[in-house]
Amino acid sequence: MSPRARGSEYMEWAKTRSQARFNLASSGVAELPTSELPFRIEDVELTGPSFYGYPPLQERLARKAGVAPECVVAATGTSMANFLALAAFLEPGDEALIEAPAYGPLVDAASYLGADVRRFPRRAEDAFAIDPDRVRSALTPRTRAIVLSNLHNPSSALVDNGTLQRIGALARSVRARVIVDEVYLDALFERAPPSAFTLDPERFVVTSSLTKAYGLGGLRCGWIVADPESARRIWRLNDLFGVVPAHAAERLSIVALEHLPKVAARAKALLDANRATLQRFFDGRAELEVPPLRAGMIAFPRLRRGDVDTLCAVLREKHETTVVPGRFFGMGDHFRISYGCLPATLAGGLQGLGAALDALG
Ligand SMILES: Cc1ncc(COP(=O)(O)O)c(C=O)c1O
Repeated sequence: MSPRARGSEYMEWAKTRSQARFNLASSGVAELPTSELPFRIEDVELTGPSFYGYPPLQERLARKAGVAPECVVAATGTSMANFLALAAFLEPGDEALIEAPAYGPLVDAASYLGADVRRFPRRAEDAFAIDPDRVRSALTPRTRAIVLSNLHNPSSALVDNGTLQRIGALARSVRARVIVDEVYLDALFERAPPSAFTLDPERFVVTSSLTKAYGLGGLRCGWIVADPESARRIWRLNDLFGVVPAHAAERLSIVALEHLPKVAARAKALLDANRATLQRFFDGRAELEVPPLRAGMIAFPRLRRGDVDTLCAVLREKHETTVVPGRFFGMGDHFRISYGCLPATLAGGLQGLGAALDALG
């Protein structure tokens, strides 16, 4: 077993190295300007009755998720939601079976909790679809959590319900849970399928937030959906971590949820336009191999020849542009590019990327 993680290499890089004029590394939709969230000062209070959830926010999150309020645990972003969900189902020495490639902090958090981390592959050749047979091969009687993201970070691949059901059945066979990080699922907007939780509430635990698909990262409004008994356990665990959230953020989250259709329309228009721009760029670059862009706000192309770290260095030094090197996902010949930014940022970044690819030869 490798030593327990004490942090996230990826997160440290994201906080200290991804900022740039043309930042195609950060994964959310461009922040909604505060002035576009129509709140009045009376909507904000510093202190309120938030113990095991602030009831008006619980109601709205439950309505959004289509579940009862007792299934919802509010959390600081999907980050804390993931940590709490993993902590609720993993004891030291248990096995966590996590997709590869994966969002690094999921792996690091499981490792920090003392889990023995095993991986199941999502292969580039399969456009990062999950093959349940590969999950089965990696499963053991010690597996307590199967962990995946839907849409997938880094590829944005959608996991269909049939596959989720097969994974649920595998989990049931060893009495494990399936933890699904759905932070990007809302980026499908009206095409979004129901949450995996609805497939089997006893088996699936899902995490999400308003941070990515809506440009509301600063609110840190996240949540877990779990069966009521697990939700109660997770609230109790949270007494050791977040305890209570910033109430002003809870109040503003309610305003955001009330205006979500409008916020979503802005995000969708931005993503649709940017996705078309990026697809046109990819269509003209034979040195990149990438499945057609269908959903989400990130893509994970493979550089057919040349070195990705060199490409990233040239991008940063000569073109004020950042993308995420694939080594953070264990796939050094890929890189992750985000397109939730403003169109001018995407255009500037792609100009730099085109020039850097030309220079690689
Ligand atoms: C798959 C995944 N989960 C969770 C997060 C963190 O989300 P949040 O900002 O809601 O904490 C990210 C951020 O990039 C992510 O990609």
